[in-house]
Amino acid sequence: MNETILVIDFGAQYSQVIARKVRECSVYCEVLSWKTSLEIIKQKNPIGIILSGGPSSVYEENSPTISKEIFQMGIPILGICYGMQLMVKLLGGEVVPAQTALAREYGKSLTSFDQKCIIFSELPKKESVTWMSHGDFVKSIPEGFKVVATTKNCSTAGIANKGKNFYGVQFHPEVEHSVYGKEIINAFLKKVCKCKGDWSMKDFAKRKIEEIKEAVGDGKVLLALSGGVDSTVAAAILSKAIGNNLYCFMIDHGLMRKNEVESIKKAYAHLKLNVEYVDAKDEFLNALEGVTEPERKRKIIGEKFIECFNKKAKEYGNLDYLAQGTIYPDLIESGSINGNLIKSHHNVGGLPKDIPFKGIIEPLNNLFKDEVRKLGLQLGVGEELVFRQPFPGPGLAVRIIGEITREKISILQDADAIFNEVINKHHYARKISQYFAVLTNMKSVGVMGDMRTYNYAIALRAVSTSDFMTANYVKLPYSVLDEASRRIVNEVKNVNRVVYDITSKPPSTIEYE
Ligand code: XMP
Repeated sequence: MNETILVIDFGAQYSQVIARKVRECSVYCEVLSWKTSLEIIKQKNPIGIILSGGPSSVYEENSPTISKEIFQMGIPILGICYGMQLMVKLLGGEVVPAQTALAREYGKSLTSFDQKCIIFSELPKKESVTWMSHGDFVKSIPEGFKVVATTKNCSTAGIANKGKNFYGVQFHPEVEHSVYGKEIINAFLKKVCKCKGDWSMKDFAKRKIEEIKEAVGDGKVLLALSGGVDSTVAAAILSKAIGNNLYCFMIDHGLMRKNEVESIKKAYAHLKLNVEYVDAKDEFLNALEGVTEPERKRKIIGEKFIECFNKKAKEYGNLDYLAQGTIYPDLIESGSINGNLIKSHHNVGGLPKDIPFKGIIEPLNNLFKDEVRKLGLQLGVGEELVFRQPFPGPGLAVRIIGEITREKISILQDADAIFNEVINKHHYARKISQYFAVLTNMKSVGVMGDMRTYNYAIALRAVSTSDFMTANYVKLPYSVLDEASRRIVNEVKNVNRVVYDITSKPPSTIEYE
């Protein structure tokens, strides 16, 4: 059994970011709502507790709180922002609203640390930048505490009660903007809580498999696979837990990359997944015939997906749960934070409304993308799928400008496969966030041999980004671009020109439609 750290969540949108930092320090961690009873908290036998931030003010009526007895459990406690303010209030100090705009701090703040304090002992410098976001501040600290960090505007940016192992920070060590935030969390875990740090993704997989077995029992689960890393890893872990009671299907809309469906099929066979492949190429491509307007294309594809999904779900009948490969950032983006493995069925836009699933299972809903990849490797999902680049749901449809025809799909598939080969040959694949070919709707004059040609232009795109909200085009060497260009015009029929896209996002987007 791993040592456990509990994160008590006071409604902070980013409590899971704290949990993620704890996992990065190789320590097992669970996030519990502040409403969790003291009895359950004690049952978990934690060796340390982190109290999260939150949007409320501790002096507001009915603001989230915890039993004061938590401070009598004899274990280390770290309060972050609201968590620190709550600790101060419950232990007899005073928290007040900042009266002036100056006293409120939002954003980066230069912070001075007392490096003799154990949680700051791993910091290489006495001063560094932290991320602040507070309208209230600690005016007086409880007995037994001393101030261990300050900023220009906050005289209580860090407090400590060494004897009791209680620590509080007004800033957010869990976010990347706090330069040495991870070192602070690590020192709390390893030096204060005395965690060994022997937790790994293998332990996560083991626990999750047990959890799924217990929750699903003999129930049957349906999962739509996209071939992407999230749904694949969700399928891999579910299948390890419930075997053939997991029913997967994958819709082939005819807009996949070259040989993609075949390679996904091979990978799924290796994982021994119970998958049905639904050949819906004709349905999708017929519906897209003659359509040129980008949003219309997307809408048609979205509607067809729902239609296919509903049809399949009805065909299977009598299924208990619907599984999804939702990961934590998806929940943040959609504004619905729910850390449970199973949540009761709600009508997620586009899912069958008249099929009575008992609930939705989201085994990855606490993980971030890089953690999903680690878990995938742990479960034996091959690197080809685990490190697959993001591919949009509408597939090549958003990379073919103008009307989609089977001929255009085939041209683009061939050009894209060549670009892919060249990028891989020169070892750029893992260094670039996304790279692909686009079939522009432009035809131009060329000359091949002694013959005039009038053919398509292919655009190549390669971008680097950390969040896909903004992106920079990659400055690929001319030699790599040259090789891709020569091979594409020589090997792909109906292409006589290749251009490289040197716009970033913004003002462009990554995809073309
Ligand atoms: P844009 O083109 O908006 O793309 O800069 C940002 C990222 O999102 C991907 N993308 C999609 N993914 N369904 C998806 O699953 C979609 O409809 C979709 N459109 C864009 C795109 O590939 C890039 O990674």
